[in-house]
Amino acid sequence: MYPLIRNRRLRTSESIRRLVRETIVTPDDFLVPLFLVGGKHVKEEIPSMPNYYRLSLDNLEKEVKELWQMGLRAVLLFVKVPDDLKDNKGTEALNPEGLMQRAIKAVKNACPEMLVMTDVALDPFSSYGHDGIVADRQILNDETSEVLAEMSVSHAKAGADFVAPSDMMDGRILTIREALENEGFQNTGIMSYSAKYASAFYGPFRDALDSAPVDIANVPKDKKTYQMDYANRFEALKETQMDIDEGADIVMIKPGLCYLDIVREIKNEVDVPVAVYQVSGEYAMLKAASEKGWLDHDAVMLEQLTAIKRAGANIIASYFAKDFVRTIS
Ligand code: PBG
Repeated sequence: MYPLIRNRRLRTSESIRRLVRETIVTPDDFLVPLFLVGGKHVKEEIPSMPNYYRLSLDNLEKEVKELWQMGLRAVLLFVKVPDDLKDNKGTEALNPEGLMQRAIKAVKNACPEMLVMTDVALDPFSSYGHDGIVADRQILNDETSEVLAEMSVSHAKAGADFVAPSDMMDGRILTIREALENEGFQNTGIMSYSAKYASAFYGPFRDALDSAPVDIANVPKDKKTYQMDYANRFEALKETQMDIDEGADIVMIKPGLCYLDIVREIKNEVDVPVAVYQVSGEYAMLKAASEKGWLDHDAVMLEQLTAIKRAGANIIASYFAKDFVRTIS
């Protein structure tokens, strides 16, 4: 007459809910993206990313000490490059005294145990805002992979622990792995953006780095010939498996929230750690809605981060890392 099994018994109090909770996000899960600029004493707020900043290297040192204090132990570095240093081949990316190379050293100087991952792609250095070299309205695959391999070695020389190729060229993981091995960087890891979709959620990031594809003749206006079509699922598995076979230590799915079906599927198939990038547009949406008073910022943030982890993420790259730590401390 009455139900013998009442699932609500396990929900009667916060104490029992905590006891049976399956997924708990902790500071150890986070990879913190950081945006760097030249100059001194610079801390510029990114207009489409409230409370997120571009930092000069002196402020980077302060920031990583603060992150470390908060229990955040891994950073993912991006640089904003002035237009006069940009060209089609991303030459500045290989400068041993370039901003990225100096940033890696600055982090290690401020906080030797902080794990440093670096973005590897040409877009911040490209006069066309593309992740690879442009020729004849195309993005050149193999020529780009060669530059990315040199860039990776340059980051490894500066002290990066992991390189994170975000470009989606075919075969670049193998090219990068071989270059690292040949140069003696056996222990430098590769976190591959293996299933990276051509997403409209990257807008604020491109504002942050001034890296959007330019709108001129003979240059593709978007990244759809290399980033994945968001309608595709099987292709994500294929891309990810290939990157693992080529030597990726960690694979990544990007963006986060709209792609959690892909995260779960990949997590069920692969035996390497899976990272998810909760991207700039996802951050901007919640900041905007909460500024308007339409969403409860901290509650929605926690729900989203927990959902990403529940879907199978071992690592979450997120602009909410510090907000998260503040809410739990
Ligand atoms: C570029 C790169 C992008 C992001 C990370 N690396 C943007 C793009 O592909 O245009 C996006 C991250 C974000 O939106 O937070 N290689």
